[in-house]
Amino acid sequence: AASPARGYATLSDTYSGTSELADIEWDNLGFGFLSTDYMYVMKCPQGGKFSNGELQCFGNIELSPSAGVLNYGQGLFEGLKAYRKEDGNILLFRPEENAMRMRMANRRWVPPTGKGSLYIRPLLMGSGAVLGLAPAPEYTFLIYVSPVGNYFKEGVAPINLIVEHELHRATPGGTGGVKTIGNYAANYSADACSEGTIGLLRPKAILTVLYLDCIHKRYLEEVSSCNIFVVKDKMIATPAIKGTILPGITRKSIIDVAQSQGFQVEERQVLVDELLDADEVFCTGTAVVVSPVGSVTYLGKRVSYGDGIGVVSQQLYSVLTKLQMGLIEDKMEWTVEL
Ligand code: COI
Repeated sequence: AASPARGYATLSDTYSGTSELADIEWDNLGFGFLSTDYMYVMKCPQGGKFSNGELQCFGNIELSPSAGVLNYGQGLFEGLKAYRKEDGNILLFRPEENAMRMRMANRRWVPPTGKGSLYIRPLLMGSGAVLGLAPAPEYTFLIYVSPVGNYFKEGVAPINLIVEHELHRATPGGTGGVKTIGNYAANYSADACSEGTIGLLRPKAILTVLYLDCIHKRYLEEVSSCNIFVVKDKMIATPAIKGTILPGITRKSIIDVAQSQGFQVEERQVLVDELLDADEVFCTGTAVVVSPVGSVTYLGKRVSYGDGIGVVSQQLYSVLTKLQMGLIEDKMEWTVEL
């Protein structure tokens, strides 16, 4: 890191005491934000190149009221997780997929083995001031982290989805296939707000909505925060990537894991009616990992898949999380040990 400036950590600060665990209740992690020790920040000034960046103590950042990100939603983000192995080392899962290079500070915030993971949030934003609609003159890239447990308060118990018939997450030619911050704002529709469905720490949260394509209103797209898979016999189907669906890293990983386990996986248009006679439905995402779906409500009709996690969802969840936690051999070389 560069020489320390006001509020910045020095290298010796950064690495002192990092083998100890932070003093928090590791048994009660939900998916709420917990502030940690450090964040990484780099800036790209107008017409220039990104600096090497620096570790800073975690804290608020200063932005012009006219920053591109605040006014026109000029921002992208990523999300990945780090797990603590039984030998104490820390595993990152496919970090190159997030185009991420970092050194691991904040070690003490990686939950003890089996208690959760450290969610890593890289964020790229137009931080320079603009008034008219134009790319911001300055960009800031930063990475912050937070220890997390289950995203859905149900944990690995099944979640209930509502198929949204009128509102759409993305349109062809739009930004649905990119992890832009604006894609998530659409979920805050008044209709979609309900009592605590997500996370342990949020009293009011967004219902888990399953979106359909905006043209035919018949094909599955994705769930508010994750991709979706439908299981029928030994066949697993998931909506094909075609610009309106986020190409999830967990989605891609589950396709490979399922194939390696002998399942046939189809990436194609999946009709909403296929939910009616599916054996199992599950969602995937960095935050949600593999979350079984217990029921889907579509135009007032509810289809139920049972109270527990389905056999296929359980098998895929188990292989993926064992890989992520370093409990089975990582033949794919997806994890990176720190
Ligand atoms: C993730 O799964 O990492 C995401 O970015 C989804 C977000 C709504 C938590």
